[in-house]
Amino acid sequence: MPKARAVSLAASALAGAALMTSLPASAQVDPNRFLDQFEATFGKFEGYRRSGAKGICAVGEFTGSAEGRALSTASAFSGKPVPVIARFSVGGASPKAADNARSQRNMALQFNLPGGETWQMGNISAPVFGAATPEQFLGRLQSLQPDPATKAADPAKVKVFAEANPEVLLQGRYFASQPVPASFGTVNYWGVHAFAFVNAKGNKQFGKWIFEPAGGTQGLSDEEAKTKGPSFLFDDLRQRVASGSVAFDFKLQLAQPGDRIDSAVVPLPDDRRKVNMGRLVIKSVAADAAGECLTITYNPIVLPKGVEPSTDPMLSARAAPYVVGLGRRLGEGAKQQ
Ligand code: HEM
Repeated sequence: MPKARAVSLAASALAGAALMTSLPASAQVDPNRFLDQFEATFGKFEGYRRSGAKGICAVGEFTGSAEGRALSTASAFSGKPVPVIARFSVGGASPKAADNARSQRNMALQFNLPGGETWQMGNISAPVFGAATPEQFLGRLQSLQPDPATKAADPAKVKVFAEANPEVLLQGRYFASQPVPASFGTVNYWGVHAFAFVNAKGNKQFGKWIFEPAGGTQGLSDEEAKTKGPSFLFDDLRQRVASGSVAFDFKLQLAQPGDRIDSAVVPLPDDRRKVNMGRLVIKSVAADAAGECLTITYNPIVLPKGVEPSTDPMLSARAAPYVVGLGRRLGEGAKQQ
């Protein structure tokens, strides 16, 4: 990506971060504290993202549906294809995270919309995040910090924190219940937060989105996962994209009055209707360690006109750490795997 665009995106993310100042002070955690704590808990890997370090850039195209247009004026849903800069990654701070573990996969997207507008999102392969509030997330990271003597987290500390904050165990339980994804292209990705979709009449519909693989989900048996080894996802993605089979339907699950729309750990009730907002097709995959996504931070408060944030405290809490994280890794020399 040209440097000027990277800088302008960082600036737009910072503008979003400025929005945060209207939130109560209790909802804020200093972004540098988050970044320092990621490094203390998971190790410091210079140049890499502090979360989702092992990743690969791709580009694609999104075409919005008539149902999408009915719910939002966002130009992403115009029906004309819009270019998307995607990044697929494995959860965690290690650039050597195993591809064959029952862990998190990510799909981050930047829609490059007409008129220089952008829409950024970082989606995860679980319907819930691992904490309900920024303070709880920081506390969880602190509880997992290795003891310098044993080089491992103190199990007693981990237990005490988790017992007092049971929400932090929900995501791990979900991953344990799922098979290892066969591919970046065969797993559901959730936005986790609620957003409001605003249409031409000014009607506001809150919902939570899911990117569902067009060909269905596909997991590996434990035996298959073992045979695949710790590093198969990038080549797999290249092969599947070359055969034109990596596509996702962007579904919006519609909230009803009374539903929780302020929590990343409480999904909407299962029976809420899902609307198909359009289809994302991944067209090509960059060489390892290259591509436009390398210098982008996918900041979920960078939204187009027609989509608005909810009051989920975890959503606004992401704005500043992503910008600070981008600054740290660009300063160190951005790396990908
Ligand atoms: C206060 C809460 C959070 C903090 C402090 C945090 C922090 C970070 C940081 C520092 C990065 C690396 C950014 C970069 O270097 O560009 C990152 C990446 C990521 N985060 Fe979070 N995060 C938070 C919450 C969440 C939540 C709720 C989700 C759920 C959707 C999420 C999903 C992701 C994804 C998908 C990536 C990888 C994006 C990419 O490929 O660039 N994060 N996070």
